[in-house]
Amino acid sequence: MLELRNLTRAYELGGERAGVFGVSLDIPKGCLAVLAGPSGSGKTTLLQLAGLLDTPDEGEVILDGEAVSGLPEKARCDLRLKRLGFVFQAFNLVPVLSALENVMLPLQLQGVTEEDARGRAEAALARVGLADRRHHRPGQLSGGQQQRAAIARALAPDPLLVLADEPTASLDHAHGGPLMDLMAELASERGVTFVVASHDPSVIARAHRVFRLADGRLVPQD
Ligand SMILES: Nc1ncnc2c1ncn2[C@@H]1O[C@H](COP(=O)(O)OP(=O)(O)OP(=O)(O)O)[C@@H](O)[C@H]1O
Ligand SMILES: [Mg+2]
Repeated sequence: MLELRNLTRAYELGGERAGVFGVSLDIPKGCLAVLAGPSGSGKTTLLQLAGLLDTPDEGEVILDGEAVSGLPEKARCDLRLKRLGFVFQAFNLVPVLSALENVMLPLQLQGVTEEDARGRAEAALARVGLADRRHHRPGQLSGGQQQRAAIARALAPDPLLVLADEPTASLDHAHGGPLMDLMAELASERGVTFVVASHDPSVIARAHRVFRLADGRLVPQD
């Protein structure tokens, strides 16, 4: 489903070379994959390449059989909106909008009618257990509830792939585990592929596949 072919993205700063180098990996449909590795190992850099937010110096991102990283920005933007979902560490909901309006937003940006967007957003919020909190604004939700709303927003447009960067980093242990259980269930139930960057052991424990990075390179698996 997601294939990364020999991806390199190098940052040169003060004579030091960092980034990701020659990374190749395959992630099948419906898989919850975790990119693990210490701080600075290249997890976010790789996620941004896979999410078409950045372009590689070398190599190719192949999404559902199509080479997509070399497409013009307009086409990549369209793919991001229609085929990809994003969940970040925190603060990625629009603070002045309710949970429901936040989930409706990407649908409406795609041209879905308000009525349709509302129905789909309500269903997505119900799936993540937030039906009764849908009129709350992010500031009126707990950290775990905000992340569930972010997952609902990522899933409502029916993406192929959801990318999450340290989604549990602002949550305590009691909330991180259940959030990952939810992602694992959604991956199996809907065939959505999740790629999660994290060094949190409770995230790694729930992964279907773990890819470890060190100094921008993939650590061979045993
Ligand atoms: N815009 C940039 N300019 C220069 N160097 C960068 C840039 N972005 C990242 N880097 C460097 O690339 C390397 C990989 O960074 P990256 O953010 O991918 O790490 P990470 O694994 O996500 O770390 P963390 O766990 O701390 O989030 C680091 O050494 C970082 O300093
Ligand atoms: Mg990072």
